[in-house]
Amino acid sequence: MLTVLDNPLVRRDITLLRDKTTTPDRFRAAMQRIGTALAVESAKFLAMRTFRVQTPLEETEGYDIGHDVVLLPVLRAGVSLVQAFSDLMPEARIGYIGLSRNEATLATEEYYCNIPVLNPDSLVFILDPMLATGGSVCSTIERLEARGAKKMVIVSVIAAPEGVKRVENAYPNLQILTSTLDRGLNEHGFIMPGLGDAGDRYHGTV
Ligand code: PRP
Repeated sequence: MLTVLDNPLVRRDITLLRDKTTTPDRFRAAMQRIGTALAVESAKFLAMRTFRVQTPLEETEGYDIGHDVVLLPVLRAGVSLVQAFSDLMPEARIGYIGLSRNEATLATEEYYCNIPVLNPDSLVFILDPMLATGGSVCSTIERLEARGAKKMVIVSVIAAPEGVKRVENAYPNLQILTSTLDRGLNEHGFIMPGLGDAGDRYHGTV
């Protein structure tokens, strides 16, 4: 199920990301703010655990996170969301998966994979700012399922309808969160109007 996060601050920051004259430092700052908004919205997928807490005056109900939270950024662009998510979910464990897209075939190629041991309470947030063809996300989910993952949420910043459809068809019960749904993909598999290559722009490697 797709949720498109929409608020004026996020729209302003998406515009900054889109603008080709935005420098890497401003791109990173905008990504950080969008990441914070996405992390707050993502909290709705977290289960709660209740317990009794003693205030200075009396005992009352207290709350803690009921999931084992795992953040899984897809390298490289996913790095841009790690700080915001780990700030709001400090208990999270963090893994990494390195996938690159073969620009000729658009196929996904793995070059790194370090996923923490998962347990039945694990909720994995897959962090990848760009959901284009959906190949990277589907490859990541396959690897997570092979390690026993039962609960996953896909967090993107910018998504194409083609990628959303591919993921929804393959995994109808999965939650997808994004901050903008763009028009579609061009013939090279780039999101249009898009923002270019998030990994390159974030890391200043354009
Ligand atoms: C980009 C982007 C996503 C992926 C999306 O990665 O960061 O991971 O492509 O495309 P898909 O939905 O068609 O799989 P890229 O290969 O450019 O690597 P980078 O993050 O290192 O720049």
